[in-house]
Amino acid sequence: MDPWLLRRTAEIAAQYLASLPERPVGPAVSLEELRSTLRVGLEERPKPAPQVIEELVAAADPGLVGTQSPRYFGFVIGGALDAAIAADWLTSVWDQNAAGYPGGPAAAVAEEVACEWLVDILGLPDDAGVGLTTGCQMAHFTCLAAARHRALADAGWDVEADGLLGAPSIRVLVGARAHTTVFGALRMLGMGSRRVELVAADDQGRMRASELERLLASGDGPAIVIAQVGEVNTGAIDAVPEIARLAREHNAWCHVDGAFGLWAAASPTLRGLVEGVADADSWATDAHKWLNVPYDCGVAIVRDRSAHAAAMNSFAGAEYIPQPQHDERYESEWVPEFSRRARGFTVYAALRELGRSGVAALVERCCSCARLMAEELARDSRATVLNDVVLNQVLVRFGSGGTNVTDEVIDNAQREGTCWMSGTGWDGEPAMRISVCNWRTTEDDIRRSARAILAQVDIAAQALA
Ligand SMILES: Cc1ncc(COP(=O)(O)O)c(C=O)c1O
Repeated sequence: MDPWLLRRTAEIAAQYLASLPERPVGPAVSLEELRSTLRVGLEERPKPAPQVIEELVAAADPGLVGTQSPRYFGFVIGGALDAAIAADWLTSVWDQNAAGYPGGPAAAVAEEVACEWLVDILGLPDDAGVGLTTGCQMAHFTCLAAARHRALADAGWDVEADGLLGAPSIRVLVGARAHTTVFGALRMLGMGSRRVELVAADDQGRMRASELERLLASGDGPAIVIAQVGEVNTGAIDAVPEIARLAREHNAWCHVDGAFGLWAAASPTLRGLVEGVADADSWATDAHKWLNVPYDCGVAIVRDRSAHAAAMNSFAGAEYIPQPQHDERYESEWVPEFSRRARGFTVYAALRELGRSGVAALVERCCSCARLMAEELARDSRATVLNDVVLNQVLVRFGSGGTNVTDEVIDNAQREGTCWMSGTGWDGEPAMRISVCNWRTTEDDIRRSARAILAQVDIAAQALA
């Protein structure tokens, strides 16, 4: 490969990153414009690679959302650390097949080490099975497949061999404010999203443990309980120790959705919020959120290694795949995919760049920035902060005299471009979600963004007057 193109790509990437502090955070073009510039027709003849890249950059750049911007607060989207970006580039250049050790020995060992560090920093059992998935949804899929395996194996049913038709039924109990991806995973596993038993939640979105207790006692048979650490709107944390205890008492598996909230365990000052979370049976989280690894990287962690491996294990029985000779890692033993990207390199690099103290500082800074945002907005009587800001999420509504202008504020703020955040529904009314998840975000960014948001409240209120 012509090294010139790699150098040119590095230049383009560096210019993009340098532009983030002042670049409008939202995209600058419409869907139609993007389609007209990117849909060029598949040509018959090849094109020189440098030209392909220059044309791609010119067409795509105006349609990028500044998710790496220090003032991007949409969904729950992490930034990307320098070492993680660089390791991600090398992952592409090295192009290892991370199905197993033979396809990339260094990739397998880097992932093995990264997984050890992950369970260590998250305070989870050091002998748990760990897999790096595309994201939290597939981490749920992986963990719940292990849960399904254990529940049915204990009932004398081999679900991997015999499937679900005719299998004993598994109860699934889920908090009423569970993330949509939990239901996606259940659907794909044949456990259905409609047949779950929803456990009532409180005003912050936390599962009511007393309600779980009542429901668990009202039935029997194999069961899976799904708790949450970090509700997507409020950041609220379920009482996992109690939920895990109830699950244990009823012989049920306790899975935790900790997509971002689990990272509180990495901070000595926030760790108390997730005390006892390690009592569960499986945990799904993301490295592409709070660890600030570039997309994509989720993490599935399962206490019962044999259930985990039995539910995945896609290379068993393939004669052309050399079987492990020693205890070398076959990444596909722990995730749904077979061939896949060597995600371990980026997690390894991110954890080395930050170290323990750096991860703690990143998580704590995001939380203090979220608290500052809530304070700055709450100075205005037209803003109502709806959540207890326990982590990095702020849920806020704008309006006065019974008029809710939140949707208008979100639309206008997105267009204005100082910052970007999205909306949600809370108690049947529109609300704005602000998620602080990026190592680049400073208190100045928060103050500047709060001013920009409040300026839109003025405009929206005037328009409606
Ligand atoms: C609580 C929770 N669970 C799961 C997810 C899904 O994560 P992913 O997009 O990585 O699948 C999210 C995403 O924001 C989340 O907040």
